[in-house]
Amino acid sequence: MTTYLSGIQPSGLLHWGNYFGAIRQHVAESRPSAAASPDAQKPHEHYYFIADYHALTTSRNPAELRGWVREVALTYLAFGLDVDHAVFFRQSDVPEVTEIAWMLSCVTGMGVLERAVSYRDKLERGLQPNVGLFTYPALMAADILAYDSNFVPVGPDQQQHIEIAQDMAASFNALYGPVFVRPEPKISPFAKVPGLDGQKMSKSYGNHIWIFATGKELKKAVGRVVTDSRPPEEPKDPSSVLLFDLLRLFLDDAELADWKARVAQGGTGAPGYGHLKQRLIDAADAFFAPARARREELSRDPAEVERLLARGAERARARARATRDRALAACGLR
Ligand code: ADP
Ligand code: TRP
Repeated sequence: MTTYLSGIQPSGLLHWGNYFGAIRQHVAESRPSAAASPDAQKPHEHYYFIADYHALTTSRNPAELRGWVREVALTYLAFGLDVDHAVFFRQSDVPEVTEIAWMLSCVTGMGVLERAVSYRDKLERGLQPNVGLFTYPALMAADILAYDSNFVPVGPDQQQHIEIAQDMAASFNALYGPVFVRPEPKISPFAKVPGLDGQKMSKSYGNHIWIFATGKELKKAVGRVVTDSRPPEEPKDPSSVLLFDLLRLFLDDAELADWKARVAQGGTGAPGYGHLKQRLIDAADAFFAPARARREELSRDPAEVERLLARGAERARARARATRDRALAACGLR
């Protein structure tokens, strides 16, 4: 059995980068016949979860956090995550991971966590760190190891955290015997989605577009995509036009090539930035329309969403409990 696992933090509304960089792969891989799996013939299982314990490292507003957890759940379900095949759950419904995180912390040197890039980044950005932020990789390692995960599909920013999980598993196993399975990162093949300003799209940079934005909200967001003052007639290298990096997410190759050719050629009748923005609005709106409708429908039935999460939690918990018990016994606590 090959096990895949990934988590996403409920720390804001999910944006285009989250969809193309993470959710899309997770949903595709959740299907039993997923061709995306490196070894589709072998049986594989999938765990996807809402990392709400992790969100506590930064959240200070309970109502907002509850709302974001619900949004992540609605988003995955709206895109058709196969919850019969994949185990979809809320991290905090599996408290065993905090026990595993503690056991892992006790075999990990301070230096390992002090070197974590995401922690150092946050320090550099002037964030007042709490202990949770520092030990975040231990909890993430526990998430991964609790389900004997073989592959962890994530963006490149998470690679180091998976290497830390490998180190922690190795340290524990070296001391106490083979308890944990070594996980491997599976880095998302999709290049970074740029934000409205051309930097990586991220909620922490405020340059993102919510997946379900529509109407005025979508128009306003796309209106903020950075352009320059070159007139439509001026021939332009398409690679110098940020809008194309967003249009490529939604247009088929032929249409994208056609727009690029017309922009490169310039002259009278060449499309200006306004045209490209309108096309982006229409294409994104249409692309997300079916999921938006499904989200609307699901949001009217919170009990059903809760039921699906509870079912996922039960399946996840049985597995995590077995791993926790193995680890407790190995280190002498049972
Ligand atoms: P944010 O940067 O908005 O805080 P997260 O770090 O919570 O987003 O990312 C959640 C998931 O979405 C991760 O797997 C990450 O790699 C992916 N992701 C986030 N932003 C982008 C982006 N701009 N392009 C591609 N993938 C992204
Ligand atoms: N740290 C991840 C992020 O910010 C979320 C996460 C928590 C995670 N636990 C995980 C991802 C386990 C993969 C595996 O995106």
